[in-house]
Amino acid sequence: MFSKTEKTSQENAEDILYGVNLAVDSDQLTDLEKKHLPIITAPESVRKGECFEVTIEAGKLLRHPNELEHHIEFVELYADSTYLARMDFAAGTSYPMTKLWVSLNRAHRKLRALSHCNLHGTWEADVEIEVKD
Ligand SMILES: [Fe+2]
Repeated sequence: MFSKTEKTSQENAEDILYGVNLAVDSDQLTDLEKKHLPIITAPESVRKGECFEVTIEAGKLLRHPNELEHHIEFVELYADSTYLARMDFAAGTSYPMTKLWVSLNRAHRKLRALSHCNLHGTWEADVEIEVKD
């Protein structure tokens, strides 16, 4: 569900506002990771050109604050490194969850999502997807 990384928890804490944060151990997520990692719900397998639904939700595992001083500003979706979509959120009035319709016209291996918190930086998670002919 989440990409493994070589970063330690200490390095993750020091680097939180720089670069992209990944789950250090997907079997033992920290509360910070649970609040920020974008959770992707999508089919495991699709056909080329087929429209399918993708849901991205930040704070699904542990609710993230949604106040002007602290909120999720946006989520983005990629197929591998190909940009697909972005949704911006207004603090306090929109919830950091979005549903998208996606159609992939060539093979990709992963759907990747980024979520961005105004205080805690950018977080990434992914799911594998098979695109069949
Ligand atoms: Fe945050």
